[in-house]
Amino acid sequence: MGFYSQVILPPLLDWSLSDATIAKLRYELLQDVQGEVLEIGFGTGLNLGFYPNHIQKITTVDKNAGMNAFAKRRIQNSQIKVEQLTLSSEQLPIANHTFDSVVSTFTLCSITNVRQALKEIHRVLKPGGRFFFLEHGLSDKPQVQIWQNRLTPLQKIIGDGCHLNRDIYALVAAQFPDVNIQQFTPVNMSDIIAHFYQGVATKSSPQQEWQN
Ligand SMILES: C[S@@+](CC[C@H](N)C(=O)[O-])C[C@H]1O[C@@H](n2cnc3c(N)ncnc32)[C@H](O)[C@@H]1O
Repeated sequence: MGFYSQVILPPLLDWSLSDATIAKLRYELLQDVQGEVLEIGFGTGLNLGFYPNHIQKITTVDKNAGMNAFAKRRIQNSQIKVEQLTLSSEQLPIANHTFDSVVSTFTLCSITNVRQALKEIHRVLKPGGRFFFLEHGLSDKPQVQIWQNRLTPLQKIIGDGCHLNRDIYALVAAQFPDVNIQQFTPVNMSDIIAHFYQGVATKSSPQQEWQN
């Protein structure tokens, strides 16, 4: 991983994702997180201040050591104990059925093999466990989609693999049949970069699988 990704990008992303509108969405998303928690694509740790007070420990995964280093200051100022793993979420060295909650914000857009990462998220969740996500992706407006497809090659360079045109609902629903999702664009933002998907996907319990 190069100088741009490890040194230039962390402060840039930290600044661009610190917006007050996004902060409110982070807060809303994380209020129901509980139990053993895994956050994938931890980045600079911007979610840390929004976890409920009863969360005492989280495990985090990010493949970029520069992001993990940038996040240290935020971790030191937090009451939450953080175990940081520098690795890719496409292959998690974690046992099946470990976590009650998995969190991802603005990360499914960047993971190279996102279907494999979603399989891993599903695998490490306990039965009945929940995947909380806030992501940007493909708009439902054809005119916007044209621009998202045109600009994605450039965005992948600037944003270290970030796609503007991923259908996050289809990706999550392919792994989790039970998804509760909202799609919207905040008023002060552009549809091209800020068609947001916010939701919770639940892993079936063995009893539900038996009934299906
Ligand atoms: C746009 S940033 C979002 C950071 C943070 N989640 C937030 O909301 O501020 C995307 C993050 O995903 C990480 N990432 C990309 N691909 C990954 C992968 N395969 N495994 C783990 N992390 C990954 C990047 O290094 C980066 O820190």
